[in-house]
Amino acid sequence: MDSIVVTGGTPLKGKIPIAGAKNACLTLMPATLLTEEPLTLMNAPRLSDIGTMTLLLQSLGAEVQSLQDGRVIAMASHGPVNTLAEYDIVRKMRASNLVLGPLLAREGHATVSLPGGCAIGARPMDIHITALEAMGAEIELKDGYLHAKASGGLKGAKVPLRFASVGATENILMAATLAKGTTVIENAAREPEIVDLAACLTKMGAHIDGAGTSTIIIEGVDRLGGATHPVVVDRIELGTYMLAPAICGGEVECIGGRVDLIKSFVAKLDEAGISVEETKDGLKVARKNGRVSAVNVRTEPFPGFPTDLQAQMMALLCTAEGVSVLEETIFENRFMHAPELLRMGADIDISGGTATVTGVERLKGAPVMATDLRASVSLILAGLAAEGETVVSRVYHLDRGYEHVEEKLGAVGAKIERVSS
Ligand code: UD1
Repeated sequence: MDSIVVTGGTPLKGKIPIAGAKNACLTLMPATLLTEEPLTLMNAPRLSDIGTMTLLLQSLGAEVQSLQDGRVIAMASHGPVNTLAEYDIVRKMRASNLVLGPLLAREGHATVSLPGGCAIGARPMDIHITALEAMGAEIELKDGYLHAKASGGLKGAKVPLRFASVGATENILMAATLAKGTTVIENAAREPEIVDLAACLTKMGAHIDGAGTSTIIIEGVDRLGGATHPVVVDRIELGTYMLAPAICGGEVECIGGRVDLIKSFVAKLDEAGISVEETKDGLKVARKNGRVSAVNVRTEPFPGFPTDLQAQMMALLCTAEGVSVLEETIFENRFMHAPELLRMGADIDISGGTATVTGVERLKGAPVMATDLRASVSLILAGLAAEGETVVSRVYHLDRGYEHVEEKLGAVGAKIERVSS
C-alpha cells in the first residue's frame, strides 16, 4: 500500500493547475442515463472515484470511454439499461446513489443499494426518498436495497427539502428533467456543482430555472439529447492547494482558480493574514513573514465555508497565533484528522462538533494514518509545515479525490514523494 513521505519546512513557489471538480463530474456522469445520445465531459479529473462511477455506469449498460489520458469521458446509453445498482460497487462510494433519479426517470423503476456507513457520519438518504415520493415514486427498503418504482412515470411536484442536501438536489434535478409537468425544489442546495449540472442538463435540452439559488424550477420535457460539457474547476482541490503556501510560506498561483467558487474560504484566509490575489489565469496566494492569525470557522452549505475544506483549514490553524474554534455542522463525525494532528504536536480539544485549536509554534513530523479523503490531504499539508519527516499511510483515500498530489506539490518545491510497499 502506498504512503506519502513529506519533509517539511520548504517555502513553495510556482504554479499548480487545478483539475475539474470530482463532485461535479460524479453527478454529471449519471446524467448520461437521461439520454440515448452521447454525453461527453471535458476537463474531467483523473481519480479513482471517477473509475468507480465508470464501473457503475458500465454495470448499468452505459458505454463509458476514458479518452485523452482521462481528461475526456465519452458516454452513451443506447436502448434499455439495467436498473440494478449493486452493493459491491455502491458501497465504495456514496455518490453512486446519484444513479437513482436518472434511472427512475428513464425506466420508471430502479433498485439501488444503500451506500452503507461512511467514515464521516451516517449519511442517510431520507431526503432523496421523500422528494422522489413527492414526485409519485413508491420506494421500499428491502435487503439493503432501495426498490423504487414510478408506474405512471414521475410527476412534477413541489419538493421542499428538510435540509439543502447536495446529493438530493442533484438526484431530484436530474429526475425532474424528464418528469411530467413542473417540479419546484425548495431549500435546494446552491453548490457550484449543482449550477454546473444544471448547465449541462440545459445543453441537453432540459428547462431549468434558478440553479444556484434555493428555489429551482424544472419543466419536464419528453426527451433529452446529447451534449459536450466542460467540468467546472474543483473548488476543494483549489482551496487545498491555496493552503499549501499559506501553511509553509512562499507564493503559489493556482491556475483556473476563481474566488466566486470559494468566497467564504478566501475571507477566512484574509482574516488569517494570507494574501489572495486574482490574476488573469487564476489565484495567487502568498504568506508574508510571521505566523498566521487564529480564526473561527463554521462549516455550512454553500455559500458558507465548505465542510470539505475543514480538515485542511484545521491543519493551517494548528500553527496559528492564538486559539481558533472550528465548528462542523454538516457531518457528525468529521474530526478524525485531529488525533493524527495531535501526534504531530498539535493542541486540539474536541467537544461534540466543535474543535478548539490552540496554535503551536511548530508541528513535528510523525507517522500518521489517513482516515478519509480530506483528512488525508490535511495531514500532507501539516507535513509541509512540520519539522522533519511525516509519513502518511493508507493514501488510497487520497487517490479518490486528488490527482497526483505529490507531483503537483513537488512541482512547486515541496519535498514529497510516494513510496510503494
Ligand atoms: C456532497 C459531496 C461531499 C460534501 C457534501 C456536503 C459529492 C459527491 N459529495 O455529499 O463531498 O462533503 O456534499 O457539502 O458531491 N443527509 C441526510 N439525509 C439525506 C441526505 C443527506 O440526513 O437524504 C445529511 C447527511 O448525512 C449529511 C448532510 O445531510 O450530514 C449533508 O449531506 P449531502 O449534502 O447530501 O452530501 P452528499 O451529497 O452526500
